[in-house]
Amino acid sequence: MAQETRSKLTTWFPQAQHPIIISAPMLGTSNGTLAAEVSKAGGIGIIPGGFNFLPDSHQLPALAKELTTARTLLNLPPPSPESPTSTLPLSVGVGFILCHASFAPHFLTTALPLLRTHRPTAIWLFAPLPADIASGAVRRVVAALRAEGFVVFFQVGTVAAARQAVEDGADVLVVQGADAGGHQFVGGAGVVSLVPEVGDLVAGEFGGRGVGIVAAGGVVDGRGVAAALALGAEAVVMGTRFVAAEEAWTPEFRKKLILETTDGGPSTVKTPVLDDIQSTAIWPDVYDGRGLIGKSWQDHVAGMPLEENIRLFKEADGAGDTSRKITWVGTGVGLVREIRPAGEIVKEARENALRRIQRLQAAI
Ligand SMILES: Cc1cc2nc3c(=O)[nH]c(=O)nc-3n(C[C@H](O)[C@H](O)[C@H](O)COP(=O)(O)O)c2cc1C
Repeated sequence: MAQETRSKLTTWFPQAQHPIIISAPMLGTSNGTLAAEVSKAGGIGIIPGGFNFLPDSHQLPALAKELTTARTLLNLPPPSPESPTSTLPLSVGVGFILCHASFAPHFLTTALPLLRTHRPTAIWLFAPLPADIASGAVRRVVAALRAEGFVVFFQVGTVAAARQAVEDGADVLVVQGADAGGHQFVGGAGVVSLVPEVGDLVAGEFGGRGVGIVAAGGVVDGRGVAAALALGAEAVVMGTRFVAAEEAWTPEFRKKLILETTDGGPSTVKTPVLDDIQSTAIWPDVYDGRGLIGKSWQDHVAGMPLEENIRLFKEADGAGDTSRKITWVGTGVGLVREIRPAGEIVKEARENALRRIQRLQAAI
């Protein structure tokens, strides 16, 4: 099974080098430049596409711009909108967050034509509304994407969600553990148990079915990459590490905080409250988010009412004071010690993982 899916990922991404490193789609942080640099270095870069699929969405034109940037950096000719099939495929992916009311009614008429024009290889889906799963809307979108040749990645954080994603047609499961930065499942487990359990599910209930398994959450360097491969993942996603990439849209104050932070467990918190404080609570109850502990969280723990916390957040934000801002990162933040170009992050993690695996082989 591992052999079959491994070669499938290589077929879909011929430029990718093993072990494959994938940069996460991080809304507001990752972009076409970062994704292209990751792909150039032999990884797979995923551009965030946002969550708003309305006809007047500002996120979709922004995505088109980033796809164009990636295409230019990868030396590909621009897309031909009148004849999308003659457009060369772009070896980057696009990630969408599905938990917005616009997904079911609009995705196929707003996002799909854009994807058809720009031809990114992979489409990464995350966080569908339970109602959109139940109604079959998710399944219809996955089928439409696959019918047009896109490889569909589905990020999941529980075994039940993995089962649902395979039933809905996913080609690749991004198995996200609870150490991850940003949004994730409330009832998540660590990758050490979650990746093998999902692997057993796919091999058992679904007879392999050629579904790829990728690990996400807490992987920051070659040691984490080697560990994820040992757990049965064919590739690894890194988010937090790329927040500190040179190409990321990460403001200086956040880069500084990330480099200063050690001991990712007690320095971060996994909670829905951070979204409440910064008024981004678009997420259904099954999701929360992991971010750095800062003033807002400390006040919350000390008993400050939410309304007061929101008021102080807005007041500080309006005055250009960043001290109450939320910074989404995972527990791996303690291992992020330098701002580096994305391509170097990919190459270093890959080479260190290979060296570690060789050392392990020699030691046993
Ligand atoms: C700043 C930040 C923003 C994120 N935004 C998204 C997003 O827009 N869509 C998504 O599917 N996942 C998002 N994630 C989660 C990542 O896809 C991934 O699961 C996570 O970063 C992996 O764990 P790590 O941060 O420990 O590497 C985000 C993560 C971070 C750190």
